[in-house]
Amino acid sequence: MSHVAKYTLLSVVFAAACASEPPPPPPPPPAPAKPEPSAEEVKAAALLSSAKAVFQPLPVFMEKGGVRPTDDQIALGRTLYYETRLSKSQTISCNSCHDLARFGVDGQPTSPGHKGQLGGRNSPTSLNAALHIAQFWDGRAADVEAQAKGPVLNPIEMAMKDEASVVAVLKSIPAYEEMFRKAFPDQPDPITYDHMADAIGAFERGLVTPAPFDRFLDGDLKALNADQQAGLATFMSSGCTACHNGVGVGGAGYFKLGQAVPYETADQGRFELTKNEADRFMFKAPSLRNVTKTGPYFHDGSITTLDSAVTLMGKHQLGRDLDAKAVGEIVAFLGALEGTVNADYVKAPELPPAGPTTPKADPS
Ligand code: HEC
Ligand code: HEC
Repeated sequence: MSHVAKYTLLSVVFAAACASEPPPPPPPPPAPAKPEPSAEEVKAAALLSSAKAVFQPLPVFMEKGGVRPTDDQIALGRTLYYETRLSKSQTISCNSCHDLARFGVDGQPTSPGHKGQLGGRNSPTSLNAALHIAQFWDGRAADVEAQAKGPVLNPIEMAMKDEASVVAVLKSIPAYEEMFRKAFPDQPDPITYDHMADAIGAFERGLVTPAPFDRFLDGDLKALNADQQAGLATFMSSGCTACHNGVGVGGAGYFKLGQAVPYETADQGRFELTKNEADRFMFKAPSLRNVTKTGPYFHDGSITTLDSAVTLMGKHQLGRDLDAKAVGEIVAFLGALEGTVNADYVKAPELPPAGPTTPKADPS
């Protein structure tokens, strides 16, 4: 067969095949060989899986018993959080000591309240506080709603005389009538001290600050840089997670300050509340979320730098002498717990104007 004839025959066969059925799809391109994960990726994935056994990412909203407060309750709570007329001098609000533009703290060792009086303990941040097992350094309030009733009547904080005088102030401000009615519908008398606290608590339940660490826990291995990953590994291997764990990286239990090596402090912690000998020097292990921004540290605000807080923890809680490298890495990891609060959510609202019967400020 000549070359030409052979070629022609092949073409005919091919053409016939083409006419009867569509051309077979081109074979799929060979799957690109999956690049072997790098040593760093393997290490990060292993770190992530051990971290997931100890920590959880933040929820979007810190609901109470699975119930989300209404938007009207949150809006009322936001206004009350900034409301200076809940204080005797009409100059102090929750935000004075838990400044939402400053990670929920005032940056002072202890906070000036009514007439500049200082309390004995450092103001913890209100951010993410609703996650905690209970409120205050000693856990004496069950939740943020119960907690909010305290400072308003505390003589060295907002110094209002009693619940009735707080309710009288709120009732004298016309706009609150409407706001409380919308927040607590179908109530014969919506403006009560308890509703005030419930609304403030409802607002606080939205004070969540998602951070790079949450993205890491959600599987983004690149969310923590190499130093932060090394710090997370050191944080876990040193034993910090015995007390600082869970969704708050702390805030979940009470522990003795000075568990390994006694720590000198006049404050007896939970003992002052329970008078139970086992509670002497027991404090709530604070959440370490945003800790890079919430100094000074410890229950009395006596520790100025995060490096020294970490070093002291190693010594007094674990009996370990952490070297400068370990402390540096841990502090780098703590930086990955620094999150952002939704700026619209915390934006200070305009306070409603006083009514004709609203009491005047009493600085005495
Ligand atoms: C004068 C400063 C001051 C004012 C005003 C103030 N607080 Fe506090 N707050 C503190 C201090 C100090 C503590 C810790 C006290 C303790 O543990 O014994 C605290 C604790 C808290 C906690 C507990 C956080 C945790 O981690 O346990 C929350 C939540 C809180 N305050 C919210 C509020 C709200 C809401 C208001 C307004 C109704 C308010 N605070 C007003 C100083 C203040
Ligand atoms: C046995 C429990 C326990 C262990 C272990 C522990 N902590 Fe703490 N941590 C606490 C308690 C309790 C406090 C509160 C101290 C106080 O009230 O003065 C605290 C406070 C802190 C603070 C100060 C936070 C603030 O807002 O003032 C930091 C930072 C901290 N711990 C980091 C660490 C690190 C890092 C490790 C590991 C090296 C660690 N902790 C190990 C229980 C513990």
